[in-house]
Amino acid sequence: MIFCLICILIFTISMIYDIVNDQPVINYSYIKEDFPVPDIRFYSENIFALSCYFVNSEFQNFSLLDGRVDGSCNKYITVPLEKVGSYYNGYFSIPFENGYKLVRSNDTKYGNRGEQKITFLFNFLDVNVDLNTSSSFFVQISDSEIVDLEMNISPIFLQSITKANNYTILVGQSTDIYLSRRIRKFIIPNWKAIMGFQPDYIIKPYPTSRKTVTQQLTHGRLTVISDISVSLEFDIATIETEQRSHTILSSLGLIGGVWSLAICVYKLLFGDDAIRPFGLIQKHGYFYERTQKKLSKFLSTLPLIQLLDSSKNIDDDDESRVDQLEKQINDLELFLRDYVVDAQQLDKTYINNERDKDR
Ligand SMILES: *[C@@H]1O[C@H](CO)[C@@H](O)[C@H](O)[C@H]1NC(C)=O
Ligand SMILES: *[C@@H]1O[C@H](CO)[C@@H](O)[C@H](O)[C@H]1NC(C)=O
Ligand SMILES: *[C@@H]1O[C@H](CO)[C@@H](O)[C@H](O)[C@H]1NC(C)=O
Ligand SMILES: *[C@@H]1O[C@H](CO)[C@@H](O)[C@H](O)[C@H]1NC(C)=O
Ligand SMILES: *[C@@H]1O[C@H](CO)[C@@H](O)[C@H](O)[C@H]1NC(C)=O
Repeated sequence: MIFCLICILIFTISMIYDIVNDQPVINYSYIKEDFPVPDIRFYSENIFALSCYFVNSEFQNFSLLDGRVDGSCNKYITVPLEKVGSYYNGYFSIPFENGYKLVRSNDTKYGNRGEQKITFLFNFLDVNVDLNTSSSFFVQISDSEIVDLEMNISPIFLQSITKANNYTILVGQSTDIYLSRRIRKFIIPNWKAIMGFQPDYIIKPYPTSRKTVTQQLTHGRLTVISDISVSLEFDIATIETEQRSHTILSSLGLIGGVWSLAICVYKLLFGDDAIRPFGLIQKHGYFYERTQKKLSKFLSTLPLIQLLDSSKNIDDDDESRVDQLEKQINDLELFLRDYVVDAQQLDKTYINNERDKDR
């Protein structure tokens, strides 16, 4: 038995180690969803101006030359006023609740309003900026949906999505950025997750993006304008759900299996143990009394099983010895029938045999 216990102990410890150090795997699934218009940060070492316009089914053609800009887009822009750190920062952000979505062309059935494209016009305000040496600025795109408990998300993950959506844009170019959305569901490590029940999640949507430079803009001598268009690549969002591979419930099954295996091996090597018909219930309290009473009532020859004490019975005459033996055998039979062998099946066979004989 010690052998089995040691096996199971080692196995249980390794299981606990696995549960504690579990690295979740990612299960991917897909839903059709438009992209909530993202938050965009523009930043540069030199002060700049920013404006934008929506392209949607109502407002399709826009000409850089006539300078028309949709005012309803500009109101979501915060222009830079002073340097923070080493950068001037301009922000574009539509509150998530407004329900503005980026949609695929001609597909405006979702959300309050569907934008096929948002185009930003960027130019340096300071005409003395040396375009030969500082000819670029940065754009950083992030999801506009607010995430509860964001501070519990791994900082490395947050950094990597920031990095992946951070672009250097050269002035005087026309740039397209295509977005698609991913939704990562992080398991909150509470007892439910560790047990193996349906876990609670922190849901963190984030963009993935791709940049292409479409054309070199022809521009005047003094103002160099860059335009950046943001549009949707896929209207399918990828959902990345974390799944624990080791939980307490899943490990219990394995531990059970190893226990049975250890017992099998033990029996193979050392044979079977004696059958123990009495469990804890019959050994303690009320049921102990009852069992004791029942046993002493029915079994007159207690103790039932004992080593033959030849010296004691040597003087008894044969008749009483035979009686004694008979009683003992009867009691043994009773005991076997009640506690060791399930005799019901035998009884049935016996009755059936008798019936067959009677016919
Ligand atoms: C992945 O998730 C889907 C939907 O949530 C579920 O139906 C599927 O069984 C999961 N796959 C695995 C391998 O757990
Ligand atoms: C868009 O351009 C087409 C031709 O290219 C023109 O007929 C139409 O009036 C323009 N629409 C607007 C709103 O300017
Ligand atoms: C969008 O719809 C207009 C007419 O409603 C059509 O001329 C145009 O080709 C469509 N564009 C796309 C990309 O399907
Ligand atoms: C920038 O480089 C061009 C040549 O490529 C030169 O003609 C021009 O003077 C330079 N401008 C400045 C501000 O250095
Ligand atoms: C974005 O990229 C630029 C150039 O590689 C880098 O200087 C800047 O620090 C990056 N910003 C972030 C937030 O990673």
